[in-house]
Amino acid sequence: MTDLFAPYELKALSLKNRIVMPPMCQYAVTEQDGTPGDWHLVHYISRAVGGTGFIIVEMTGVHPDGRITNRDLGIWEDGQISAHRRITDGVHAYGAKIAIQLGHAGRKALDAEPPVAPSAIAFDAKSKQPQALSRDGVEQLIEAYREGARRAVEAGYDTVELHGAHGYLIHQFHSPLTNTREDEYGQDLFLFGEKVVRAVRDVLPAEMPLLMRVSAKEYVDGGYDENYALEFCRRYMEAGVDLFHVSSGGEGPIGSNGGPNAGPGYQVALAEFIRSALHVPVIAVGRLDAYEEAQAVVAEEKAELVAIGRGLLSDPYWALHAEEALGGIDSAHVPKPYERGVWKRK
Ligand SMILES: Cc1cc2nc3c(=O)[nH]c(=O)nc-3n(C[C@H](O)[C@H](O)[C@H](O)COP(=O)(O)O)c2cc1C
Repeated sequence: MTDLFAPYELKALSLKNRIVMPPMCQYAVTEQDGTPGDWHLVHYISRAVGGTGFIIVEMTGVHPDGRITNRDLGIWEDGQISAHRRITDGVHAYGAKIAIQLGHAGRKALDAEPPVAPSAIAFDAKSKQPQALSRDGVEQLIEAYREGARRAVEAGYDTVELHGAHGYLIHQFHSPLTNTREDEYGQDLFLFGEKVVRAVRDVLPAEMPLLMRVSAKEYVDGGYDENYALEFCRRYMEAGVDLFHVSSGGEGPIGSNGGPNAGPGYQVALAEFIRSALHVPVIAVGRLDAYEEAQAVVAEEKAELVAIGRGLLSDPYWALHAEEALGGIDSAHVPKPYERGVWKRK
């Protein structure tokens, strides 16, 4: 039986276990210049020390106005690379692999003056009116993703995750609710995402996998369903995506936490659906913080990997605690300086 602690390989990415820290914005940049600081360093390294196999750094802007707020991370200029390098080196030193989530918030960029979007449709009545991107503007942003990915490779990340979920820019382009353009990017709603995937693929080493996060379903009236999501995933896969990280929502009031009725494993069926229809590896995410729940997703082959978000915010040692609870910890997995801790061993 494959369990949470079995290694996993995808192209050149080699993980020691199936436990993923999903991207979670910290809103903790101090100088508003997008550069990661000590908070980010400690935050990510502590999850590596805690046994997490794969860490995905929070949504990081490929353009200053592509951030949700000015307190979010960026990777839009070469001067930001060295601060990212501190994080990747630190995480690698403690045995985990690390990706970065590249994103652009589009109409959901709260501090942008004005935000840009495929079409001039505001998120809600309280949000700023976005400016519709010109064709040149669209193409410049595709280049910004390419450059962001190039910098990510230079910074030592093991791979890149494109943020195509939660109502941010790529999602805004492929959703009929937010893209009413008349040019080719509106006639073919998947064209922007496809071009971003190809641009990023271009600068990644051939053996480096490319990940993409998607919302497999929208939660508003007239929103798309999982069958529609399958079609854009198919296109993005043909363009070069190797694994989908399956989330949902974000285009309306219900965000990535699935809303008040989201119970344990609320998005697993969506991940399973995309995995089996496209024969593609997936990360399942969403209220999987009960150890047995996470273990079952992997053991029952519903997903290759499981991401634990809020569970890892409250417990940096979630992976070590899961191992203890699910049969006792292998002594080799305890960080050496913590050997005298009180561990339930095998
Ligand atoms: C504080 C916080 C920040 C988040 N930021 C991001 C983000 O940067 N990118 C993203 O794709 N999802 C983001 N999410 C969503 C999480 O990655 C995850 O999908 C969600 O919390 C559901 O998983 P969980 O139930 O294990 O927490 C965020 C969630 C939280 C709680």
